[in-house]
Amino acid sequence: MVSKQVAALDELQDAVPYRVEVDGVPVCLVRFGDTVKAVHDTCSHQEWSLADGGTIYDNEVECSLHGSSFDLDDGRPSSLPAIKPIPTFAVELDGDAVLLDVANPTNDAPFPDH
Ligand code: FES
Repeated sequence: MVSKQVAALDELQDAVPYRVEVDGVPVCLVRFGDTVKAVHDTCSHQEWSLADGGTIYDNEVECSLHGSSFDLDDGRPSSLPAIKPIPTFAVELDGDAVLLDVANPTNDAPFPDH
């Protein structure tokens, strides 16, 4: 596993989606206290950044364009119009460093082709 530092924990506000790009892959990070979750930042419905205006409800990020919500652990949508899951990624914390490996997603959702 090749993890790269993508953020510092201190720069992430709680329950606020934050976009980073790692090896060309856009990722949406969400901090919950001492835990950080990571999903692909592109909504599986249409080309839209989940971090761009997205809202966090419990363990889901809601797309700001048409309102589909995605679980931050398994990437599955819980509401239409999206029907496909989004890739999810493991996050490691090393002190204040937020580390991510986008080459090894934790589910089998397809990477968006748009
Ligand atoms: S682009 Fe996200 S729900 Fe339509």
